[in-house]
Order: sequence, then C-alpha cells, then structure tokens
Amino acid sequence: MIKVLENIANTDPLMISEQRAIIDRVLAENKNLPGATMVVLNELQSQIGFISVPMQGYVAQKLRVPMSEINGVVSFYSFFTTTPRGKHTVKFCLGTACYVGGAPGLIEKTKQIIGVDPGETTEDGSITVEVCRCIGACSQAPTMVIDKDMYGRMHPNKLPQILNKYQ
Ligand code: FES
Repeated sequence: MIKVLENIANTDPLMISEQRAIIDRVLAENKNLPGATMVVLNELQSQIGFISVPMQGYVAQKLRVPMSEINGVVSFYSFFTTTPRGKHTVKFCLGTACYVGGAPGLIEKTKQIIGVDPGETTEDGSITVEVCRCIGACSQAPTMVIDKDMYGRMHPNKLPQILNKYQ
C-alpha cells in the first residue's frame, strides 16, 4: 500500500482526507459481500464521482484482487470514469443506425467546437464527451443525449447552437 500512496498526486481522492474516509468506509462496509468488486466500484463512482487509477490500485489491494480485474471492470462499463465528469455529459450513440447515419461526423464536429474527444472533459469542466450503444431511438438516427435530453436527426450544423446552451 505504501508504494501506491507514494505514487499518487496530492489531488487524488486518496490524498484528500474527506474523500479518503469515504473510500475507506465504502471498502469496510462492502468488502465481504458477494460481488464486492462491483458493489465497491459502483459506490465509489457514485460517491466520489470517478475512480482514478490510484483508487483502483487501492481497491485491488484492499479486496485482494488483481489490479487488472479492477481496471478491466472500470474500462468495460461506461458508467465508470477515471477522471471527474464535467457538469454536462454529451453522449453520441454509436449503434449501427447512428454510426451509418453520421455519428462519426458529429463527434468530429464536436471536437472542432469544444476541443475534446470521447472520454475527455473540456478544460473548464463544463462538458464531458462520451459514446454509448443504441439508445432505442434508431428511427431518429443519428442521436445524441445531453444529460437527460435526447436530440434526434442530428446534423453537425446543429451542434454549435446546441452545445452553446451547455457551456
Ligand atoms: S443506433 Fe442509435 S439510437 Fe439506435
């Protein structure tokens, strides 16, 4: 554990006493439950807002599971993030209908406008861009979702005005 703690920046939740207390409480309350890994990671994502790489190492040590297992879970499920999400989350559907309908062009245009790729957050912390699977609105492809608002029949030309509302 000392090695893990030596390698983390002061800004990591593990080094902030209030957040460290939450992490330790979540681990203590759940580490003996069946499926503890998922329960702990879900709680940390909800309560801390993200699961940094040092946090993953700490959880792996405490639960006595390989780091690769923790990292595999965090990477696989889009619910988990390794950095804090922005105030708003923009998700582009990459299901077949949306992909064929122009989702890659929407992502490219978004990068031109706000400067971030999927998986990244704008420097001012206002918007995180993500991709997702089919959201069940294929007839309106290509679609995107911002927080809880769905936008269908999207076109790159519509993006500046829409994104502007969230910045
Ligand atoms: S493929 Fe995008 S909504 Fe179904």
